[in-house]
Amino acid sequence: MTITLWRHARLASFVGPQPWGWVDDGALLVQGDTLSWVGAEADLPTALHADAEVDLQGALVTPGLIDAHTHLVYGGDRAAEFEQRLQGTRYEAIARAGGGIRSTVAATRAASGAQLFDSAAARARCLMAEGVTTVEIKSGYGLSAEDEARCLAVARRLGRELPLTVRTTSLAAHALPDEYAGRPDDYIADAITWLAQQHAAGLVDAVDAFCDTIGFTPAQTGRIFDAARRLGLPVKLHAEQLSDQGGAALAARCGALSCDHLEHLSPAGIAAMRAAGTVATLLPGAYYFLRDTQLPPVQALRDAGVPIAVATDHNPGSAPCLSLLLMLNMACTLFRLTPEEAWRGVTVNAARALGLADRGTLAAGQRADFVAWHAEHPREMAYRFGHNPCHRVICGGVERTPA
Ligand code: NIG
Ligand code: FE
Repeated sequence: MTITLWRHARLASFVGPQPWGWVDDGALLVQGDTLSWVGAEADLPTALHADAEVDLQGALVTPGLIDAHTHLVYGGDRAAEFEQRLQGTRYEAIARAGGGIRSTVAATRAASGAQLFDSAAARARCLMAEGVTTVEIKSGYGLSAEDEARCLAVARRLGRELPLTVRTTSLAAHALPDEYAGRPDDYIADAITWLAQQHAAGLVDAVDAFCDTIGFTPAQTGRIFDAARRLGLPVKLHAEQLSDQGGAALAARCGALSCDHLEHLSPAGIAAMRAAGTVATLLPGAYYFLRDTQLPPVQALRDAGVPIAVATDHNPGSAPCLSLLLMLNMACTLFRLTPEEAWRGVTVNAARALGLADRGTLAAGQRADFVAWHAEHPREMAYRFGHNPCHRVICGGVERTPA
């Protein structure tokens, strides 16, 4: 196992009480795929052995970025729907008229496995070019036993073939497919059967649902969650995006890893999330693209000490966004997160939203996922937008070559 010492970096470690977990002149010792020592150059153990040394010459180093909420695998696009919305038709109205998610379902079912893989890989490479080393990918555009499994298998294959960790989430309860029109409870019953099959095939790391007026009711969501829990799978939820359904409290009572969107989150939802340690994953790209005006209750989440993550929500309908760095800026400008909160949202708290304790900070024992940047300080990435200062990416101890 090669041992490499990365020296003379400015570290934003997100560990310890100081802002950013800042270390002025720091070093990282990488042993295989793991960080075995992280700290100030001045504290480097004298007896430390390394096979190789890299001088980072003062470059800024952060943990690898984690995009904790995406829908990267789908067919087609929704550019025509975007034009419709610009002319005044609302997102919910398009969905109710059979467009929206269901139009992407038709395009996804019509796409070949190769098309789904190639388009999702191209999207993943865009995220990777900005230093993303872990991504969560949801199903939810297949909505049949076969097509849901196909999309999850494509996500798994991305994790095998790209230098990137992929966590998969089953989201069969995303929308009601046409063949189940008027029979949502039958659909949920079938989705529960598929979930057990997907789990047996090793395709699922977590289970999600869309609990809203154009999605599923809290009762239907609860049935999916009960099935997940029987299989030992963690849950998360698209909650209170368009209306307050009490979904966040329901999810928190099921020990949810995260509740996501949350523009209409109530004080009761916040209290339940706090009690359960559930992460609030904010999605400023969807808020922006749908021209939402209802802000998520950021100050109340802060006051309650609910951890906040930030993600792209990449999907063809409400957030066709492939830049997690842009989400840092939008989380600050639109939601008034501080740059440090936004950064914690794409590192340490994003890891927590995925139930991953082995990443998100720079500390001994963590996976060696880190990024060197052409920047002095991470606040610059929250400040600039449309700019990518990513310099070098190390994923699992191995340096990635540029895409
Ligand atoms: O996270 N809210 C539901 N799901 C997606 C949007 C899906 C779509 O419009 O295709 C989201 O925003
Ligand atoms: Fe989403």
